[in-house]
Amino acid sequence: MGSRFSIRVSAWLVPLLCALQLVAGQNCNSTVQCADGSLCCSQYGYCGSTDNYCVAGCQNGPCRSNPTPPPPPAPPSPPSPPPPPRPSVPPSPSCGAGRIITRKVFELLYPNYNKSFYSYDAFIVAARAFPKFLNEGNHQARLRELAAWSAHIQQETAGLVYVEEIAKSSAYCDATSTRYPCEPNQKYFGRGPLQISWNYNYGPAGEALGIDILKRPFLVSLDPVLAFKAALWFWNIPREGGIPSIHNVIIGKYKRTRADKAANRQVGFGYTINIINGGIECGKETATPQAANRVKYFQEFCQKLRVSPGRNLDCTNQKSFA
Ligand SMILES: *[C@@H]1O[C@H](CO)[C@@H](O)[C@H](O)[C@H]1NC(C)=O
Ligand SMILES: *[C@@H]1O[C@H](CO)[C@@H](O)[C@H](O)[C@H]1NC(C)=O
Repeated sequence: MGSRFSIRVSAWLVPLLCALQLVAGQNCNSTVQCADGSLCCSQYGYCGSTDNYCVAGCQNGPCRSNPTPPPPPAPPSPPSPPPPPRPSVPPSPSCGAGRIITRKVFELLYPNYNKSFYSYDAFIVAARAFPKFLNEGNHQARLRELAAWSAHIQQETAGLVYVEEIAKSSAYCDATSTRYPCEPNQKYFGRGPLQISWNYNYGPAGEALGIDILKRPFLVSLDPVLAFKAALWFWNIPREGGIPSIHNVIIGKYKRTRADKAANRQVGFGYTINIINGGIECGKETATPQAANRVKYFQEFCQKLRVSPGRNLDCTNQKSFA
């Protein structure tokens, strides 16, 4: 299988390339200055010259105590709520997910994450197996992908709090999937950041990751790297039945097929809801509460990350795949 090969190869290659790129990278801290001495080192260890880098939390370089003066006064407007905390994600050349989501950004996006299971380090190790994740398209596309990933994680696990689905009553076994037969006495309920479920997802994920989670699905909730990898497999790899990867859809790379047009599946965040849980959440008379939550979370994360959410946010008028 082509995808299996490329995952294995890139898991090797990427740390190597990243190691090389770090030499020329833009990272800094309180002792290590930016290579260009006219730049400031931000709270999050990036070099730049704007207020984000040089004012609050500036660690090094020509730090300033006051923001640059605001532009000429605008006409009076009603008082607005204070802006949300702003993770500083600089437009620097990227190498892997870690360039877009630093440890600090991870903690700002998922402040309540379950520290007895999930961790930033496990996420970064897992992401190396999917080198295009948060690492393809322009800077806006990468931030929008991070906002979408975070929104679905918020919906599925309350921001990396839950490891396993709460209602484990169903075995999530589709007996018509003869290629991926269920293991007796095992259940394929939701596990990990995106709550991967069903034998027909555990099966191909296990093949791609080189670990038989069709036979032993419980491994996903024992190993945080595997849990992130299972979610990243679901995000980055197209599935049977002409279902594209969420990655390609959210970065705007995916080209709609004739079937998409017939089903009114427009490219945008709404399509990613359809990929994740369209049978239940999309194409109903009115917006479902689950889909509405995902859209709300997406808009909030886009605001935090200062990226436009783009078009076609909901999936109310889209037919699902199944
Ligand atoms: C700053 O970065 C250098 C090089 O990566 C590292 O050796 C040093 O410990 C860091 N200092 C602080 C205070 O983080
Ligand atoms: C947090 O992780 C631990 C360790 O896996 C698990 O036992 C616990 O149930 C998790 N908490 C929640 C709310 O899922």
